Amino acid sequence: MLKLLTLILVILVDLARNEVYKSPEQIHLSLGESPNEMVVTWITQQNTNSTIVEYGEKEFDKFEKGSSIKFTDGGPERREFFNHRVVLRDLKPGTMYIYHCGSPDGGWSSVYFFRAIKDGSHWSPRFAIYGDMGNVNAQSLSRLQEEVQRGHFDAILHVGDFAYNLDTDDAKVGDAFMNQIQSIAAYVPYMTCAGNHEQNYNFSNYMSRFSMPKAQGDGHNMFFSFDIGPVHFISFSSEYYYFTKYGWNQIANQYRWLESDLKKANLPERRKKTPWIIAMFHRPLYCSNADDPEHCTNAENIIRIGFPFGEDYGIEKLLYKYGVDVAFQAHEHAYERMWPVYNLTVCNGSANNPYLNPSAPVHIVTGSAGCQEGVDPFLPLPNTWSAFHSDDYGYARMTVLNSSHLHIEQVSDDQNGKVIDSMTLIKNKHGAGTYNCHERNLKQTSPLKGPAKMKFT
Ligand SMILES: *[C@@H]1O[C@H](CO)[C@@H](O)[C@H](O)[C@H]1NC(C)=O
Ligand SMILES: *[C@@H]1O[C@H](CO)[C@@H](O)[C@H](O)[C@H]1NC(C)=O
Ligand SMILES: *[C@@H]1O[C@H](CO)[C@@H](O)[C@H](O)[C@H]1NC(C)=O
Ligand SMILES: *[C@@H]1O[C@H](CO)[C@@H](O)[C@H](O)[C@H]1NC(C)=O
Ligand SMILES: *[C@@H]1O[C@H](CO)[C@@H](O)[C@H](O)[C@H]1NC(C)=O
Ligand SMILES: [Fe+2]
Repeated sequence: MLKLLTLILVILVDLARNEVYKSPEQIHLSLGESPNEMVVTWITQQNTNSTIVEYGEKEFDKFEKGSSIKFTDGGPERREFFNHRVVLRDLKPGTMYIYHCGSPDGGWSSVYFFRAIKDGSHWSPRFAIYGDMGNVNAQSLSRLQEEVQRGHFDAILHVGDFAYNLDTDDAKVGDAFMNQIQSIAAYVPYMTCAGNHEQNYNFSNYMSRFSMPKAQGDGHNMFFSFDIGPVHFISFSSEYYYFTKYGWNQIANQYRWLESDLKKANLPERRKKTPWIIAMFHRPLYCSNADDPEHCTNAENIIRIGFPFGEDYGIEKLLYKYGVDVAFQAHEHAYERMWPVYNLTVCNGSANNPYLNPSAPVHIVTGSAGCQEGVDPFLPLPNTWSAFHSDDYGYARMTVLNSSHLHIEQVSDDQNGKVIDSMTLIKNKHGAGTYNCHERNLKQTSPLKGPAKMKFT
């Protein structure tokens, strides 16, 4: 009798566990291919027999089905879980929706909400931007949660380095992190790029857990572009340049794509519709941190100028040639705003405002969202291109006001949400070949040691 009871108990516990393991977790949003689309992604530990989002403006009067893909982590346990994806289509731009996700056999998530991206380019999208947020010491997260849920942002840009790491401890750290960011990522599209912390097992945790736009890109979250309002965003991997063990051809593939995407974005009708081109990638071209000689004080910073042999694949010359307006980077656990700069030369705009029609792209490093590695100190004498720096924990906000004005500010979480830096970039003209730092450059010498090798084609 006791044996029978124990058996029944074991079966019941097992059933209960199965139910729990089938329930949706790690729910997050990302942009689809147009303002009419939103992608909902989540995980279940065991597979369910369907993948559904129920949604609507006031009640769940619509539903959309998707599919799940089994993921096997590269760690010793070879842990498996299931990534579910649903693309919501035919959304009314700018409209609020409520949704939940799951399936009849696995159960349903809590109810979340989002606003479909607005249409056209005559509106002012707002963003939160940061890199380097970990599972431990994600200091900025509660402030972000408050601002996101109050509707302050249209999207979040996470500039690489997640969780530390997504794959750690048989990817359980990744699960915990993705559950942590659900408090923001289930409400606004969470757009990403890969950082060095994503590299284990050929970036597989990063590639499987997110769902970035596919039509313009590699289809695996490593490089892609998308438009929001008056902005064409480009996200790509700086990590291909450092983890060449996964294949040199990835650098060339990505570079070719990057150049062709920039060319297309500069077609007159395209650049008129999305005058701003904003790039995001993890490693900095310019920085002034004391503990990173590989990037900050290296005249031959690989991601900036490329390799010293064959086709170099340096990206600075592409950003310059095709008139990229702003580039966000992270990796340094700090914030730094540069003067307009190219080829190690400051190229300010007008005499009384460096950010009025600058002669080179503007670079911002914002990697201080908070992680277990702490913050990175600065050199006692920052480089000449450094306009402002802080190693407070925090994140950047950006509002793209219209075709000529863009505002960026940095929020300090250490100082209770104080805005510690702000800048308005004003451009009366956007386009390929509009920068003229190149000519000025020839008259100046590099403040860093060593030759600034850079071919201009
Ligand atoms: C899905 O699973 C549930 C419970 O596990 C089961 O009752 C149902 O018949 C399944 N549906 C399909 C279409 O397999
Ligand atoms: C890594 O993944 C890419 C696809 O993203 C593949 O082309 C490449 O061969 C892989 N490299 C290794 C070493 O497995
Ligand atoms: C750029 O502008 C800033 C702020 O006005 C100034 O401090 C800096 O010296 C200028 N740099 C150059 C090279 O003109
Ligand atoms: C763009 O926004 C700025 C700042 O609000 C404003 O001064 C300017 O007139 C606007 N320009 C256009 C073309 O709307
Ligand atoms: C970069 O600057 C160096 C001098 O510091 C100059 O010799 C070189 O021609 C410049 N390259 C470009 C592409 O402007
Ligand atoms: Fe990093």
